[in-house]
Amino acid sequence: MSQRRRSNQDALSESARQLAVAGIATPRLDAEVLLRHVLGISRTELFLRYPDPIGDDDKHRYEELIERRLSGEPVAYLTGAREFMGLSFEVAPGVLIPRPETELLVEWALAALAVIRNPLMVDVGTGSGAIAISVVALATAPVRVVATDVSPVALGIARRNADAILNEVRRPWLKFQEGSLLEPISGQVNLVLANLPYLTPNQIAQNPDLAVEPRVALDGGVDGLDSVRDLISDLQRVLGPGGGVGLELDPSQATKVERLLRDLYPGRQVRKIRDLAGLARHVVMEPHPTGCAAFHNG
Ligand SMILES: C[S@@+](CC[C@H](N)C(=O)[O-])C[C@H]1O[C@@H](n2cnc3c(N)ncnc32)[C@H](O)[C@@H]1O
Repeated sequence: MSQRRRSNQDALSESARQLAVAGIATPRLDAEVLLRHVLGISRTELFLRYPDPIGDDDKHRYEELIERRLSGEPVAYLTGAREFMGLSFEVAPGVLIPRPETELLVEWALAALAVIRNPLMVDVGTGSGAIAISVVALATAPVRVVATDVSPVALGIARRNADAILNEVRRPWLKFQEGSLLEPISGQVNLVLANLPYLTPNQIAQNPDLAVEPRVALDGGVDGLDSVRDLISDLQRVLGPGGGVGLELDPSQATKVERLLRDLYPGRQVRKIRDLAGLARHVVMEPHPTGCAAFHNG
């Protein structure tokens, strides 16, 4: 008697169940994304191919990925990609997986840049290049961007992402520089964006999911603000007249950082940006509409 072969849908349901039992937060979604990755098909195609038998090779590769997910590897590292601002970014161990809340910072930056003539921007701690590349790809007018990081691994991935995502007109607008915080920047810019490490060692220890991401991308010292404070202390050297700032933070740090910026720039408009849950994810200082001063980085 012939046995019915397992269908794509059977494999998906079984894997989702395993992930749920293991306490993975989004079991069905993770199982589906990994199956689509193995089969190389879209969500709609997967739906249409639910009843098809899963091939032996695909089944084997799928089971391997589910095992790795069960042992704590993030889906984005398993597929090698993460979508951010509608663009597909390569990610790999050694670089932070871009987070959805960072899209709010990019949206703010795109609006801020629109009021500046010939804007110059820095993305400090660029990681995969998510912020810098999205800004260059989606800006409505040309913007020159320098993206910095201390991690050569991150910069290698960011450069590959820039080459893959940006067309030949926009790619030259973006330069990468290895170095700490604003050190690689000489001259003045209109906008400084930074999503620097801002977690405390305690917060990292309490979230085992973070163990696979690079410590240098996460650890902001005892109160999480070591890098942010160092950045702010060097801002006045780099920020041109009327320039703007956008920082991603832990919500518990927002009021403190808002105060630091207000003390440094009295009279300027400094405010928090909240996400849909009402959490203050970012502190921004709005730029004044202006042209810009000299810029020596490119
Ligand atoms: C939270 S991750 C953010 C990555 C990326 N901007 C994003 O939003 O997905 C922080 C990044 O800052 C980099 N970094 C840490 N300390 C730094 C420093 N002193 N100067 C420049 N970059 C730094 C890390 O290597 C990491 O890529």
